[in-house]
Amino acid sequence: MAHVKVTDLAFGRLQSPSLDEAEEFLLRFGMVRADRTADALYMRGTDPNHHIHVTHLGPSRFIGLCFFVDDEDQLNGLAKAPGATGIEHVDEPGGGKRVRLTDPHGYQMEVMCGMQQLAALPVRDNPVNTGDNKLRRAGVLTRLQRGPSQVKRAAHAMIMTQNAREKMRWYREMFGLVCSDEVYVEGDKNKVIASFNRCDRGETYVDHHTLVCIEGPQTGINHLSFEAQNIDDVMLGHQYLKQAGKYKHAWGVGRHVLGSQVFDYWNDPWGRVHEHWADSDMLNIHAPANLLPAEEGLDSQWGEPAPQEIIAHAVP
Ligand SMILES: [Fe+2]
Repeated sequence: MAHVKVTDLAFGRLQSPSLDEAEEFLLRFGMVRADRTADALYMRGTDPNHHIHVTHLGPSRFIGLCFFVDDEDQLNGLAKAPGATGIEHVDEPGGGKRVRLTDPHGYQMEVMCGMQQLAALPVRDNPVNTGDNKLRRAGVLTRLQRGPSQVKRAAHAMIMTQNAREKMRWYREMFGLVCSDEVYVEGDKNKVIASFNRCDRGETYVDHHTLVCIEGPQTGINHLSFEAQNIDDVMLGHQYLKQAGKYKHAWGVGRHVLGSQVFDYWNDPWGRVHEHWADSDMLNIHAPANLLPAEEGLDSQWGEPAPQEIIAHAVP
């Protein structure tokens, strides 16, 4: 029985040696500054959450993740879990209440409710005449304004670890995550190298995955992932980051098999990979967990297959 059922990823916390360089990258990536203090940067998306990405000033490192729950009753449940803090008032921009835990890797996991909600930001109007609805913008021309992607929300994180399937159990037990898909190698169903897990919101449909553990030589964050508005928005963002000429592209554009998102991956100035995606598979509690070979599950439906560099990538 899980201690709590989280409803979504709220944000990831990174530490970076320069808030200026962090902000420059995240603006190019398509976020908007929500707040900045002397030693921390809070970036938002177009959805109302106060922030979806936090950067603390200091040597590059991955600090941890924060998930949402609906209310304080849920936090009370989690506060009884082994190693959990009591309920804390969050003393930083965006406020809210939280419970903190240390995960099996030593990363800080937070679960919060009551984050400040801001007005949603305007987005490009982008109806598409396609398939069985060729008249979504009958008589109206598409003229997309070039610029960064318009990141909507924080979506998921992938953590590299050893014995990924075992490690995933801790997150499932604490946060109520459920398995969507696991992949194995060498034709051996016991050699699971990645576990894709989603939130349990009962009948409500959620993203195919919110937290992934992947097997690898190092321990750290493989990537943080953010939902873009749509496929055009992913492509506009790709072009805009490419034009900057200073950020390393990691993988994409393509369409995943597991989750089916149209994706694009970029390194921040310290090699922490940030993903844009649009068009996820949406599942509810009735979807069964699947086990499939890695060459099938980690492939792309179109676009290049995953380069070895991203498969083996992790930043502690
Ligand atoms: Fe991803």
